[in-house]
Amino acid sequence: MKHSGKFIVLEGPDGSGKTTQIGNIERYMRERGADFISTREPGGVSVAEKIRSVILDVDNAMSGLTECMLYASARREHLLQKVIPALEAGKTVICDRYVMSSLSYQGYGRELGAAVLDINKLAINVDGFEYWPDMNIYLDVPPEIGLQRIHEKNDGREINRLDLEAEDFHRKVRDGYLHLIREYEGQFTTVDASQNEKAVFADIKRVLDDLLF
Ligand SMILES: Nc1ncnc2c1ncn2[C@@H]1O[C@H](COP(=O)(O)OP(=O)(O)OP(=O)(O)O)[C@@H](O)[C@H]1O
Ligand SMILES: [Mg+2]
Repeated sequence: MKHSGKFIVLEGPDGSGKTTQIGNIERYMRERGADFISTREPGGVSVAEKIRSVILDVDNAMSGLTECMLYASARREHLLQKVIPALEAGKTVICDRYVMSSLSYQGYGRELGAAVLDINKLAINVDGFEYWPDMNIYLDVPPEIGLQRIHEKNDGREINRLDLEAEDFHRKVRDGYLHLIREYEGQFTTVDASQNEKAVFADIKRVLDDLLF
């Protein structure tokens, strides 16, 4: 291990509640007096936020492989500029999406398969060390519930290029996650995110307590 901080990632399909729960996690971490940062992908640092707007712009048609490499580029800069310095300072890092999002969306959703893992291994390798999270908290919802949440109650969140994909794409993404939690057993904790917000957070809190407190 090259660092002392814990690296915790929220994963799950669109509308599963990742961003909502990061807000609850932040409040809880402050209550516990934890030394932490919270951040998001793609983005989190200036260059990566710019790549994010290129990826998500509804006007920017692009191939799946281009999309995959843009995500990986944003991921590497965010990792180098923000995540690693925080981990090395002993902070807990809470991140909205990471490698498993690419494996599910581009690997399964876009059907790019193993190329996505190769590209991402390169993106997260720094001085020979691959920065995998200590835990992926996977918020599981069927795509119809997630998409309904996003479209029904659009509280300021923009509809992006990936939201506009057909339901079949989102189903492949969710099935992809379900494959990944079997393949990477031990890196995932699954939470039933079709529950109400409070119940979802209660489950997340148990995971945080086990890992951190
Ligand atoms: N457990 C819940 N039950 C019902 N609605 C919820 C729940 N959690 C979040 N929501 C609502 O669903 C919508 C999507 O939530 P949120 O933006 O947190 O999802 P997300 O996983 O971050 O989505 P994305 O991947 O698209 O960023 C929001 O309007 C939010 O208020
Ligand atoms: Mg979100």
